Amino acid sequence: MDMGRIVKKFLIRIKRYTWFSAQYYLYEKPRGLDFTMRQTDLYEKSEGRYNGYSKTSEKHLQEIFEKIPDKEDMSFLDIGCGKGVVLKEAAKYPFQKVDGIEIQQELVMTAKKNFEILEISDRVRCIHSDAVQFSRYGDYDVFFLFNPFSEDILQRVADKIIESRSERNHRTVIIYHNPVFLHVFERKARIKKKELLHDKLKNYDTCILELMR
Ligand SMILES: C[S@@+](CC[C@H](N)C(=O)[O-])C[C@H]1O[C@@H](n2cnc3c(N)ncnc32)[C@H](O)[C@@H]1O
Repeated sequence: MDMGRIVKKFLIRIKRYTWFSAQYYLYEKPRGLDFTMRQTDLYEKSEGRYNGYSKTSEKHLQEIFEKIPDKEDMSFLDIGCGKGVVLKEAAKYPFQKVDGIEIQQELVMTAKKNFEILEISDRVRCIHSDAVQFSRYGDYDVFFLFNPFSEDILQRVADKIIESRSERNHRTVIIYHNPVFLHVFERKARIKKKELLHDKLKNYDTCILELMR
């Protein structure tokens, strides 16, 4: 990697750290909220199979949700919802249902506390579940993933989502933030539409895929 790119990456990291720290210490902590602080020990504990917690920025989530048409006809699931920031933002749009699944019980508790403080507990649900074991993908149309796990786990989860499509004639939208294993979906399903967005704050892409019915 050349020097220019190293410096650019470093500056992006400083900007992100400053922005997220200000958000946490000035806005969240005084209200008892916590969406921001990273929690990465799951990665080591699971020997790299499951990634730890880091959040998607609210501004980028707004850009993403503006791109999704017909939200009132669709239900939303965040796979690996962590402390619930994606659900909090999704709840501002007219999705039929806004749910998330999360493998770490501690993060589920944090998400639930966040929703109570924000008084949105009747609108959003955070379910304690391993994405590989979850059996209700058929209830949802829009799936959000922020690079939650390794390629082999994503293969299994993608199979479950695609199998669940036969249950009813769903539209299927995959929103994949930091899409390191995008080829998993591209190989398993026929793609109707593909759109790429970029989050400047985190320097990550997001790919929105609509699958053929
Ligand atoms: C990068 S964080 C994303 C959090 C949130 N979706 C966001 O974008 O702000 C990934 C989350 O996936 C969770 N996770 C990892 N493996 C999982 C699995 N097998 N089932 C459910 N959640 C998982 C982690 O605990 C972590 O909270």
